[in-house]
Amino acid sequence: MNEQEHENSQAGSNYAAENVNGTAPLSSNGAFNHHTAKGAQPLYRASFEQRRIQPYAQIIGWGYHIPERIVTNHDLEQIVDTQDEWIRARTGIQERRVVAVPQETTASLGARAARKALEMADVHPAKVDLIICATSSPEHIFPATASIIQDNLGLIHAGAFDLSAACSGFVYGLSIARGHILAGDAEYVLVIGAETLSRWVDWTDRATCVLFGDGAGAVLLAASDVPGGVTASVLGSDGSGAELLTIPAGGSASPASLETVSSGSHYIQMDGRAVFRFATRIMADATRQVLDKAGIPISEVDLVVPHQANKRIIQHSVLRQLKIPEDKVYVNVQKYGNTSTASIPIALCEAIDEGKVAPGDNLVFVGFGAGLTWGACTVKWSVPVEKPESTWWKNTQRQATYQAAAARSMWKRAIRRIYSQMEPLTLSRPERSTEEEQTT
Ligand code: ACO
Repeated sequence: MNEQEHENSQAGSNYAAENVNGTAPLSSNGAFNHHTAKGAQPLYRASFEQRRIQPYAQIIGWGYHIPERIVTNHDLEQIVDTQDEWIRARTGIQERRVVAVPQETTASLGARAARKALEMADVHPAKVDLIICATSSPEHIFPATASIIQDNLGLIHAGAFDLSAACSGFVYGLSIARGHILAGDAEYVLVIGAETLSRWVDWTDRATCVLFGDGAGAVLLAASDVPGGVTASVLGSDGSGAELLTIPAGGSASPASLETVSSGSHYIQMDGRAVFRFATRIMADATRQVLDKAGIPISEVDLVVPHQANKRIIQHSVLRQLKIPEDKVYVNVQKYGNTSTASIPIALCEAIDEGKVAPGDNLVFVGFGAGLTWGACTVKWSVPVEKPESTWWKNTQRQATYQAAAARSMWKRAIRRIYSQMEPLTLSRPERSTEEEQTT
């Protein structure tokens, strides 16, 4: 161990002791020093050689964005045969947010959530190594929505990919991000859950259209030697239930055609009762498994942030089966409906805003979804929840960074257009003589 490493490990153990008292190390600008309790963040992205493998993956930034347009249960009464009382009683949902204009897309919602996460963490976009966008409503089959967000934010050093595990996607994303960080392959990873499922909903099908909403949430994970962060995860799948919740058409099994569109098979189709039975069992099982893996007794859980699909699913699983008290389970499904991959990060952000998360807390994120899939992870919260001090200079710098990203993107597109209009490069074969032509 060299001198610097020794100092860092000392700092880490000091921090562990401080953490018990609920205090966390802050730099002069109020941001969390995730590398060590004492060390300052390096100004520039560290080169591969400069990096040390860190043993923890901390959530150091978070943010969410939801569309402004609200669709209430009463609004839905106007378009399908449903009642506000039925929706509230069976799901707990009162209203949901829905994108209103074509410019609002999965990438645009995701990018806005991700900007807030970067601001919260006070990390420059150029430092991010990887961006994972968990989504069930991507911009396109390809390119990845993550790549569009990467360009929008100017994450010039980041790899980008979409993650398809339906509503479990955000938990899958956290697990992958943690793996990359602990392997030393990444220092900063942005995990986004972003959805515009309203564009895949059949607004004449009362069984599904009352359930879903749009939105996005994001967290920034950082390599750290401060103990805590994402500490364990369990992921699972049972593809025998694939047809229980599906968008049948638009993929290779049933490519888009006039027929698929006229039969409505490009919309969400669901066997609600079967999904309900699966969800209530698996949410409890996955929570138990991840707590066992992390070595945390249920009594020491401070907050469960479950996938917000249906209040009754949450009541029948984490509350009743695990006997976790209601005040330790965060629920906001009444405001947003089921926002799929975005529901856990949005709920996390709101729980933080409401003062339900503090340094030293044990959190559990648990989700289920189409596939069928499920996932849970434990998080030892280790960072201050107050937003770092924001100055006009910092805000100006941030605006300039995003404007530069937009300019860079425009410039690259323009250059490509110019190249595409230039004389195509021909690989010309030598002319054959008439003699040769005649002999062949
Ligand atoms: N308004 C009024 N009545 C309705 C509505 C509605 N919106 N929808 C269904 N009904 C009727 C049904 O037609 C049925 O009538 P019937 O008895 O005359 O046949 C009756 O209400 C009961 O229907 P059920 O489907 O049995 O209702 P249930 O209590 O199961 O609730 C629900 C339905 C809310 C969909 C529930 O099954 C559920 O939440 N399932 C899980 C869905 C879920 O979470 N999906 C997302 C997974 S995450 C992802 O990957 C995207």
